[in-house]
Amino acid sequence: PNPERERLLQAYEWTAKFYHFLLKNTEHGKAAMDYLRSRGFNDKVIDQFQIGFAPDRWDTLVQFLTKRSFDLHEMEKGGLLTKRLDSEDFLDRFRGRIMFPIHDRNGKIIAFAGRILGDGQPKYLNSPESKLFNKSRILYNLHQAKPSIRKLRQIVLFEGYGDVISAWEAGVQNGVATMGTSLTESHAVLMKTMSDEVVICYDGDRAGQAAAMKSIPLLEGVGLSVRISVLIEGLDPDEFIRKYGADRFNRQMIDGAVSTTKFKLIYLKKNHILLEEDGKIAYTKEVLPIIAALPSSTEREVYLKELASELQLSFESLKQDCNEIRQSMQKNM
Ligand code: UTP
Ligand code: MN
Ligand code: MN
Ligand code: MN
Ligand code: MN
Repeated sequence: PNPERERLLQAYEWTAKFYHFLLKNTEHGKAAMDYLRSRGFNDKVIDQFQIGFAPDRWDTLVQFLTKRSFDLHEMEKGGLLTKRLDSEDFLDRFRGRIMFPIHDRNGKIIAFAGRILGDGQPKYLNSPESKLFNKSRILYNLHQAKPSIRKLRQIVLFEGYGDVISAWEAGVQNGVATMGTSLTESHAVLMKTMSDEVVICYDGDRAGQAAAMKSIPLLEGVGLSVRISVLIEGLDPDEFIRKYGADRFNRQMIDGAVSTTKFKLIYLKKNHILLEEDGKIAYTKEVLPIIAALPSSTEREVYLKELASELQLSFESLKQDCNEIRQSMQKNM
């Protein structure tokens, strides 16, 4: 037992309750509550995810923690407070933000993510790394998702807090998110201890799809099978669910998630103009090595046939090129 750690955990738990109370029951929280409602978050999920509000004042939390006899230096080190540069005064770290508590896998609150109301920078302010909080190991919502993950042997991996929450409402209770950083090897190892498959469900914009390309080898590298959800119209999962509903999300985005090979073919296509000869050839050069590396000849045939019909090329010539690439790969191994 580490007394400083215990005190910090206690402070985080009380602070989360305090912010949740301020959101729901005070004048300060009203604008934040209106904002959350305008985005479609109802009271049930606001409770379930213990969403709160930090008022736009300098010392709301300072006073709360002082009354409860917490050591403010300790609270600063733990990431709840900051200090003015030119004095010894402590200040609230989070001001005028919607607060999402971050739990460890056992359900203890160890950090916050604070979203600005409306537009502004930074959009999300996270707790700094601390004795309790190591971003590269934490997955948002893992404590609530664990039972469903174990049952389904599957994890749905999102980019954002709002995505996890909306998906939960839509019936996807095995969803987690990284904390504004890219996926790490530790995340992948952790996921492998409780599941066999990960469905990557990142945002439909360029950044989200590029991040998916990077996450695939990390997850496959620890032996997880991976499928990818390809969001349309540049939407993120939260926006997709609000626009098209829970049923279509489950059918199209979760059940309909595609293989990693299919995803790579779709992703790389965007770099080429397939109506032009040059584009066709360049695209083919990029994707044939991906297909050639597939261990199963049935799988290779499936993708080569798709490619042939899409590019209006003969299956035989693609297959011949593919086999040559495969032979040279095997020579180099
Ligand atoms: P997005 O920009 O996609 O935000 O960043 P979002 O989750 O859709 O947020 P809303 O819907 O506008 O509220 C994805 C994730 O990246 C991290 C957060 O974890 C966020 O959920 N992020 C983003 C940060 O940590 N800081 C930022 O300033 C922005
Ligand atoms: Mn509540
Ligand atoms: Mn995004
Ligand atoms: Mn997003
Ligand atoms: Mn969003």
